[in-house]
Amino acid sequence: MIIAIDGPSGAGKSTVARLLSRELGFEYIDTGAMYRALAYKAYINNIEVKEDTIDEMLETTEVDYSDNKIFLDKMNVESLIRSEEISKYASKISAFKNVRTKMVELQRNIAKNKNVILDGRDIGTKVFPDADFKFFITASVETRAERRYEQLLAGGTAADRDNVLEDIKKRDINDSTREFSPLKKADDAILIDTTHMEINEVVRKIKDFVGGQNVL
Ligand code: DC
Repeated sequence: MIIAIDGPSGAGKSTVARLLSRELGFEYIDTGAMYRALAYKAYINNIEVKEDTIDEMLETTEVDYSDNKIFLDKMNVESLIRSEEISKYASKISAFKNVRTKMVELQRNIAKNKNVILDGRDIGTKVFPDADFKFFITASVETRAERRYEQLLAGGTAADRDNVLEDIKKRDINDSTREFSPLKKADDAILIDTTHMEINEVVRKIKDFVGGQNVL
């Protein structure tokens, strides 16, 4: 069974998806981590973020996701890919056609014949348009920026509130206006606005939908 969770940055998708996967006993695939891993490679190697240079990098790059961990050329890079700088690179890199084709193929392969929850931007529209359940999780841009800011501080990263808000706004524009698989709610996705909701409420709501269909 496939559960697709899409939505903009900072809406709480990954926290919800992770908790839900534990409760349902499903595997969790964080597709954003894959774009972040590529962004990290470009960043540390000073590779210019242009389509041809990134295409070249892709040819000699291996990304994998297993046991809730992201691997770049066989190295676990989970702790290296969450900074604001990498977020910006990832938003740019994820607009390139060959990057998307390769990551979508990888995501389909990893999820094959499993019970999985995937979170991202295009899971319900492109990666698994026939997913059993599709959710689109969003929140006001101010709420998302505040959550992201708190998350950075909690992780020990210095951050500026206004900058975080501006960055989220820019990423929203990048992610939703790109040519290939832009961030968009699938017509048949269930919309959940989490602006005034606690994470546990969101998890419960999704569980009600999934369980209510008597599929578990
Ligand atoms: O969810 P995230 O913030 O970790 O994602 C990082 C970037 O990758 C974000 O700018 C959008 C992009 N992304 C994407 O284009 N498609 C996905 N399925 C997941 C993420």
